[in-house]
Amino acid sequence: MLLEVRNLNLFYGERHVLKDVSFHVDRGEVVCIVGESGSGKSSILYSILGLLPKDSKLSGSIRFMDKELINLPEGEYKRLRGRHISIVFQEPSLYLDPLFKVGPQIEEAYRAHFREGNPKEKALMALKNAGVQDAERVYNSYPHHLSGGLKQRVCIAIATVCGPDLVLADEPTTALDVSLQGRILKLFRDMKGEGRSVLLVTHDFGVVAEVADRVLVLKDGLIVEEGSVFDIFDNPKSPYTRELLEAI
Ligand SMILES: Nc1ncnc2c1ncn2[C@@H]1O[C@H](COP(=O)(O)OP(=O)(O)O)[C@@H](O)[C@H]1O
Ligand SMILES: [Mg+2]
Repeated sequence: MLLEVRNLNLFYGERHVLKDVSFHVDRGEVVCIVGESGSGKSSILYSILGLLPKDSKLSGSIRFMDKELINLPEGEYKRLRGRHISIVFQEPSLYLDPLFKVGPQIEEAYRAHFREGNPKEKALMALKNAGVQDAERVYNSYPHHLSGGLKQRVCIAIATVCGPDLVLADEPTTALDVSLQGRILKLFRDMKGEGRSVLLVTHDFGVVAEVADRVLVLKDGLIVEEGSVFDIFDNPKSPYTRELLEAI
């Protein structure tokens, strides 16, 4: 098991946002967390990455590659982030630095963890693996010269240049049109073949149908259903899942 989350409870001040959340992710698996806005999906990802605000209180257990992540010292977290766990956000423009060409931004992600190897080669390779055809041109572009779909692929290159074991993705295709969305989702499916795992947050069951091996349905911070993608679509047990499915 790559990631095992057990009885995760998260409070923002007095607010109980995650309630006894338990699930796991195996190697080579795409797991989707579905739920409406405000259900706590992003909070699960930030809990795993150790990126919660100061006034939050987290308890339970998050085991990743046999290491406990709750209360992991920041120095150890820095060695994990980008190298073993990385994240792709919904809005790539907020993540890329507008003042720098994207190539060096991918190289920087690589250099943060590796001294050996040729960073430019790695960056170009990461772009190609992320489905960018003219990698050299994109490498030399500023973010504002690129379409939304290309920017998101640059973010995927940044998230994968170090060959992480687990990629967290927070509604990564919400801002893209449907055909681009399909291409990005295919990239996540392809990662499975390399033994990588993806934990993908979405509110869209169409996305789930395209990529998920397993699905967790989250409502008000509680997991109300968990199953294979077939179970969830063919035989949803929770009334809430049925409601969400009827909405599409
Ligand atoms: N930094 C924060 N401080 C206080 N409350 C927050 C913070 N971030 C999120 N919340 C609240 O926690 C709940 C879960 O948020 P979030 O994890 O972002 O949900 P989702 O990603 O499913 O939309 C929401 O009610 C949100 O308003
Ligand atoms: Mg969110």
